[in-house]
Amino acid sequence: MKTSFLWLPSIPIILATILFSISSANSEQINLHTFFQCLSNNSSPFHQVSQAIYTPNNASFLLALNSYIKNPRFLTSATPKPLAIITAKHISHIQATVICAQRYGLEIRIRSGGHDSEGLSYVSKNPFLVLDMFNFRALHIDIASETAWVQAGATLGEVYYRIAEKSKVHAFPAGVCPTVGTGGHFSGGGYGNLMRKYGLSVDNIIDAQIVTVNGSILDRKSMGEDVFWAIRGGGGASFGVIISWTIKLVRVPSIVTVFNVTRTLKQNATDVVYRWQEVAHNLPKDVFIRAFLQAVDGSQKGKKTIQVIFIGHFLGKSKSLLRLMNVRFPELGLQQDDCGEMTWIESTLFWAHFPTGTPTDALLVRPSKADASSFISKSDYVKEPIPKTGLESIWKVFIKIGGKGWMQWNPYGGRMSEISESETPFPHRAGNIFKIEYYVEWVEEGTEATNHYRKLARTLYKVMRPYVSKSPREAFLNYRDLDIGIASSRHNQTILIKSARVYGRKYFKGNLDRLMRAKRSIDPSNFFKNEQSIPPACD
Ligand SMILES: Cc1cc2nc3c(=O)[nH]c(=O)nc-3n(C[C@H](O)[C@H](O)[C@H](O)COP(=O)(O)OP(=O)(O)OC[C@H]3O[C@@H](n4cnc5c(N)ncnc54)[C@H](O)[C@@H]3O)c2cc1C
Ligand SMILES: *[C@@H]1O[C@H](CO)[C@@H](O)[C@H](O)[C@H]1NC(C)=O
Ligand SMILES: *[C@@H]1O[C@H](CO)[C@@H](O)[C@H](O)[C@H]1NC(C)=O
Ligand SMILES: *[C@@H]1O[C@H](CO)[C@@H](O)[C@H](O)[C@H]1NC(C)=O
Ligand SMILES: *[C@@H]1O[C@H](CO)[C@@H](O)[C@H](O)[C@H]1NC(C)=O
Ligand SMILES: *[C@@H]1O[C@H](CO)[C@@H](O)[C@H](O)[C@H]1NC(C)=O
Ligand SMILES: *[C@@H]1O[C@H](CO)[C@@H](O)[C@H](O)[C@H]1NC(C)=O
Repeated sequence: MKTSFLWLPSIPIILATILFSISSANSEQINLHTFFQCLSNNSSPFHQVSQAIYTPNNASFLLALNSYIKNPRFLTSATPKPLAIITAKHISHIQATVICAQRYGLEIRIRSGGHDSEGLSYVSKNPFLVLDMFNFRALHIDIASETAWVQAGATLGEVYYRIAEKSKVHAFPAGVCPTVGTGGHFSGGGYGNLMRKYGLSVDNIIDAQIVTVNGSILDRKSMGEDVFWAIRGGGGASFGVIISWTIKLVRVPSIVTVFNVTRTLKQNATDVVYRWQEVAHNLPKDVFIRAFLQAVDGSQKGKKTIQVIFIGHFLGKSKSLLRLMNVRFPELGLQQDDCGEMTWIESTLFWAHFPTGTPTDALLVRPSKADASSFISKSDYVKEPIPKTGLESIWKVFIKIGGKGWMQWNPYGGRMSEISESETPFPHRAGNIFKIEYYVEWVEEGTEATNHYRKLARTLYKVMRPYVSKSPREAFLNYRDLDIGIASSRHNQTILIKSARVYGRKYFKGNLDRLMRAKRSIDPSNFFKNEQSIPPACD
């Protein structure tokens, strides 16, 4: 098929329609020559873009694509592949990619750490390019001003390591998985075990640099407060390409305490979890206790039982923690032996499941291949303790799905309740006692397995309905879930807004309208889009 006529820029609408109808099988035949010429023409002459471009003809195309795919269900040959990957090495490569993709009607997907659970940073049904940000990973930590500048392709592990290199008493509130990229993580909220003390990552961001749809580079001042507000929790991918963040470091003591205690049903897990729901969100801000719930093999052969692991983080020494727990949460029965004292940076290794004594430079290991297991994640918010009868019905489902799924319950309260719902696009603040993350994982390959486990995830989610937030049933953007709604059109604004009112209300509640207005101001033509992006507000 001869397709060079597609590149006439004067007929963008026809172009988009034709591109849309090209099946992925022959999309590789599209003549990208003109696009690459445009890239080259718009890139800095001192930073040739050709070394940054991978097409399926380059031997290392799949290596480049797959290195930052976290979820192996998107590694299959059936997964739509990009026409090219632009691994930007200079800011002009990013500007050129945006300008030229737009000119020639190509969609782009922006990838930083590649942890999106639905693969939206590297998969699309339409002909598309991946703009890969992993080379944009510089960091500068300034202890004097207690701030840091981090590029979007830096990972959380790199941020933590570089902070600790300069100070033992500074930290940054973000997630526990060190390979997550700051580009997606911060723009989607970003939470971790410092959340009750300091809020989310987005509550501690003071500036950002983005490349907009027309190729301009803006900072907080030039993008304006609405757009700066929007990219702190509204998802970066709807607004532009995030290049870097300026963050406010937070203070931690030189010694923190962690613990990890397991309770089975025989050890009164149901009672302890019930009590946890009443206590965990009311504890002092220095304490964060996550409950991890799953079915495991019981003592009786072939029978599963329930195990709850309480994983704790305390900004202080174990003696004070034990004193506090004996008063506030004696049901857990925490002992001195359960506790480990360490520096904050060592605690990040503990939370990331590294064995005790692992050198901290393990945090610098980059994503290089997918996890062993494919996964689906979902989320929920809980406002009232789930009654014990409810917990028991949850255990039944867990046992029925046979250890393939687990839940992580993360306590809110503390700093989270002090920040108003509209301060950032992330609206899940006061009134939430905890957030649930659901996770279903499997090792089998193929769509049949995916469909099977998707069904399990949906079963689990359905069972929880009586106990979680309603109207809307709230969800966390960073636990992306296409089940909660998707854009059901590419171009029709009426339909786009209607679909966004479904998923957008769950992710952002009343903040959706301001997000759509910010979108209209920065990307009125809706170039930056995906299955769950923010459409521009109507005029
Ligand atoms: C193992 C694991 C552990 C996790 N732990 C936590 C946790 O503790 N806390 C938490 O809050 N979340 C956690 N998450 C969720 C994680 O924060 C989100 O998946 C996040 O979006 C990942 O960011 P990324 O850059 O790695 O992903 P990507 O897949 O690269 O990007 C995710 C989204 O952001 C967009 N995006 C990425 N970079 C840019 C950019 N530079 N400019 C504009 N848009 C961009 C992408 O297009 C995509 O829509 C975890 C996920 C996994 C898989
Ligand atoms: C790139 O620049 C060359 C030289 O100026 C010009 O001939 C060509 O048309 C340009 N191509 C594109 C796609 O912009
Ligand atoms: C991919 O192949 C093209 C054409 O041979 C080449 O110009 C380009 O430099 C290659 N990309 C990389 C990253 O090596
Ligand atoms: C690009 O858009 C910004 C605002 O969105 C505007 O300030 C700037 O002038 C535009 N630049 C060009 C080259 O059109
Ligand atoms: C479980 O609860 C019972 C009754 O309250 C108590 O006697 C028992 O010691 C508890 N078991 C554990 C392991 O805490
Ligand atoms: C806690 O203990 C469980 C069970 O022994 C283990 O799988 C896990 O890695 C430990 N650490 C954390 C942070 O969960
Ligand atoms: C968009 O969709 C709406 C609702 O289906 C329809 O009424 C309208 O005509 C469509 N607009 C365009 C421009 O196609």
